[in-house]
Amino acid sequence: MKKRVAVEVTRYLEHEFHQVQRLGIGSGTTVRSFLSFVPEKLLESVELIPTSVDTLLILRDMGFSANIREPDGRTIDLTIDGADKISKSGWVIKGGGGALTREKIVRLHSREFWVMVDESKLINECSLTSCTIPVEILPFGHQATIRLLEDIFPVKATLRMLDQRKIGPVVTDNGNYIVDLEILRDSLDLLTVEKEIKKIPGVIESGIFASLPYDRAFMACKDGTVEVWSP
Ligand code: 5RP
Repeated sequence: MKKRVAVEVTRYLEHEFHQVQRLGIGSGTTVRSFLSFVPEKLLESVELIPTSVDTLLILRDMGFSANIREPDGRTIDLTIDGADKISKSGWVIKGGGGALTREKIVRLHSREFWVMVDESKLINECSLTSCTIPVEILPFGHQATIRLLEDIFPVKATLRMLDQRKIGPVVTDNGNYIVDLEILRDSLDLLTVEKEIKKIPGVIESGIFASLPYDRAFMACKDGTVEVWSP
């Protein structure tokens, strides 16, 4: 499935590559698969802006150390990323890998934002119950922040814990915690939730990308096709 999406995204990328000097690279297994497929000659000719330490290390391993940059205020021409949930109308929910804050910073500075998903991630915007919104929060006072999130929004909040080879909470690339908010109500205006969550001291960022929608989606379908659309 991931390979099929990578093939399609590469086809589009090759077509539009003359417009790309700075390329944002997202995080996760779909991005990893894309990086293993995309021709190296494309990546070696541009500046690369990774959205996580994981992606940074992959790019270094591929030999692109000299091309790697952090966001510096100049426009990133295109960012290609994965997502955990996607709506046809343009928003995504990200942060399954805990990289949501860096992903949002890179997306904010990007002229174009493409997302790669499979069909299982497509959701109906009116059936949000049991979807999860990852939120990066400061370790200081995290229990208070979690309590506040549950008081303000119809969600069940769970501090994300490590389950392999280290005990304790997940610590992000930025030294913070992740809390996963399971939505308890079907209809929720995610744009409003995104804005309101940000007002809480202690919250760094949420994985809702409603204020920063995608420009193009590539979705691997069960029937073997890849659906491409713009909201
Ligand atoms: C990381 C992310 C990822 O893009 C998202 O979790 C999708 O990951 P995968 O491609 O492994 O399904 O937001 O923070």
